[in-house]
Amino acid sequence: PPVEVITIDGPAGVGKSTISRKLAARLGYTYLDTGAMYRAAALSLANRGIDCSDEHAVVGALSGVTIELLPAADENDDTDVLLNGERVGALIRTPEMSMRASTVSAVPAVRCILTEMQREIGRRGKIVAEGRDTGTVVFPGARHKFFLDADSVVRARRRALQMRERGETVDEKTLLEMTVRRDRQDSERAVAPLKKADDAWVIDTSTRSIDQVLEAILAVVRSDE
Ligand code: C5P
Repeated sequence: PPVEVITIDGPAGVGKSTISRKLAARLGYTYLDTGAMYRAAALSLANRGIDCSDEHAVVGALSGVTIELLPAADENDDTDVLLNGERVGALIRTPEMSMRASTVSAVPAVRCILTEMQREIGRRGKIVAEGRDTGTVVFPGARHKFFLDADSVVRARRRALQMRERGETVDEKTLLEMTVRRDRQDSERAVAPLKKADDAWVIDTSTRSIDQVLEAILAVVRSDE
């Protein structure tokens, strides 16, 4: 039987992580947070001061690196990553690392390395993969594909709320600018840009709650069982 893969792509702050995590829990699938892998790669390069525009140096630096995803203990926790066996925790979740991840992820060789790691995990089956290119490039043959979208102002507001809940101070205007800049960078890159797969269901999350989106996705998945 074909391995069961569900992909969820979309821009930053659209609710992908929360929804993917909940969906995986409901179905008994493994959640594959591909963004966490790009963030860990960015951290690894930043730690060693490697210039992203030097593709040769980037490939050399990443070829010996191990990146493992740790299943979150709690449904509300971000994915943690073991980078060369060490937990990175919140270091990959800063606004600075978000932008760095976006820059690093535009390097074709980086995508090549991480896409291969993601497919390896996908081979086990029963995966909810989340990111920017999981439906278009990583798992083009996925059983179900979803593309979540929402107004950028709504997305920035949600992110701000999330950060305030964690006790961080945020400026919503700056956050909106950074979100728009990151989406543009992700959409305009030459390799595996942020894009809806032709066969993906589009769900606008602007006016829907997390649970409403989750139910809409589950309805599609179940209608096929
Ligand atoms: O989803 P998250 O915000 O954690 O992703 C961080 C960055 O990693 C994105 O802005 C994007 O540049 C990159 N990314 C990617 N392809 C993916 C997942 C993430 O290029 N499949």
